[in-house]
Amino acid sequence: MAAPVLSPSARGFVPLQLVERTNRRTPNTVALGRAPRVHLWHIGCQMNDADRERLGGELADIGCVPEAALEDADIAVLITCTVRQKAEQKVFGKFRELVSWKRARPGRSIALTGCMAVEHGDALLARLPDLDYVFDVREPDGFLAKLQAMHAIDLDGPLPLPATDRLSAFVPVINGCNEMCTYCIVPFVRGREQSLAVDEVVAHVRRLVDRGVREVTLLGQNVNSYRDPRSGARLPDLLRAVDAVDGLWRTRFLTSHPRNAVPALFDAIAELPTVCEQLHLPVQAGDDALLRRMRRLYTVAEYTAQIRAAAERVRPRLAVSTDIIVGFCGETESEFAGTERLMRELQFDTVHLAAYSVRPGTAAARRPDDVPLEEKKRRLNHLLAVQREIAAERNRQYEGTRVEVLVEGVSEDGRPYGRSREGKVTWLPAGSATPGTLVAATVRHSTAWQLHADPAAA
Ligand code: SAH
Ligand code: SF4
Ligand code: F3S
Repeated sequence: MAAPVLSPSARGFVPLQLVERTNRRTPNTVALGRAPRVHLWHIGCQMNDADRERLGGELADIGCVPEAALEDADIAVLITCTVRQKAEQKVFGKFRELVSWKRARPGRSIALTGCMAVEHGDALLARLPDLDYVFDVREPDGFLAKLQAMHAIDLDGPLPLPATDRLSAFVPVINGCNEMCTYCIVPFVRGREQSLAVDEVVAHVRRLVDRGVREVTLLGQNVNSYRDPRSGARLPDLLRAVDAVDGLWRTRFLTSHPRNAVPALFDAIAELPTVCEQLHLPVQAGDDALLRRMRRLYTVAEYTAQIRAAAERVRPRLAVSTDIIVGFCGETESEFAGTERLMRELQFDTVHLAAYSVRPGTAAARRPDDVPLEEKKRRLNHLLAVQREIAAERNRQYEGTRVEVLVEGVSEDGRPYGRSREGKVTWLPAGSATPGTLVAATVRHSTAWQLHADPAAA
């Protein structure tokens, strides 16, 4: 059950101040005699992955141990998502698990941050009696200062971050979103668009590469409206600068809005060696009237032309993925049929399908949510089945062709796996490759979700 209104911060697009319980003395601060350990948990989009990483670094900077296992931890931090009601339900479920964890030992505390924190603000403290802190992950200073004040005698200055063997990392390049898609709460909880400068991004990527990262994904809710606040450089320019970082093998970017998907972007994919042949371009719906009600500001024909232009420019192949919402306010059978038609016509590699979920405070929340839940589910399942076939067919076209696999790990049965440049999960025969290497392989077999390939003879 979602709160009916947005918190003042979400309504005003301003960062939320730290809120904590003031009516009773909880948590009791107990001297630990060691650095406090923090358990981090997150859900939601890649932005939250990146926020978790950053928060972990900031916690280590003040002397806390980030990424502790729950049973060892003193503080649990939930980094939450509010894009659909289901995401919130998962957070409340996780919270219920944490209540017994907290009560098992005095001095434990629970903090909630991420998008639900901005959406609900201090209303969460009233609703969840065992919650101690709510803070804005974009501005964690108040929370960090609180930890410093409470654990002053346990904190001994910065701790080294644990070593990482990660090959891939997310790099935020633009935060927030200025679009106002009528169904979407993201602009309210993430605020207005704000880009980092090209040199900041490049410096971040260099640091990651020095730590062994080989693949970066540049992130933004609306990544292709990226604009360097000083030089005015756009995403294709940024891609060029990142591509030039020594030791980086692969660059990806997420999420593009069709409104700003320009030919220069497709040129960058085609021309820059590290930029992978993959485009995630959410369409949301395949009917012009429906797109207008969603305030997506493009037509089906314009979107189709963009995908065709991109595929034409990026040869021999480009993997294209999209997001689609079913059951939006007033979605008729014939509008829904338009979405299916578009999927069949464009043959996406991957489609993230979601049933429309009313979000408080959004423009669409003022319209009747008139497609019954059962019908939403039916439409969703129908498109899932359609897409399963399309994905299987797309992947069949890879059989007999060459892919480049960045080997990320080895499964329990000894088979190395990783992703192709197109972002396809690819399995290799046991013993044929080691993690951290790039392997050229020929696809032997495929399913709707995966490729199976054999290393090509050198
Ligand atoms: N900035 C991206 C993604 C934002 S959220 C974009 O513009 O596409 C990720 C996806 O969640 C969206 O693409 C949309 O498909 C889905 N989504 C957002 N709000 C939703 C809602 N209220 N109900 C169902 N799905 C939603
Ligand atoms: Fe939401 Fe639209 Fe912004 Fe994407 S572009 S985050 S769907 S408002
Ligand atoms: Fe969810 Fe926030 Fe991302 S609402 S989808 S975690 S920006």
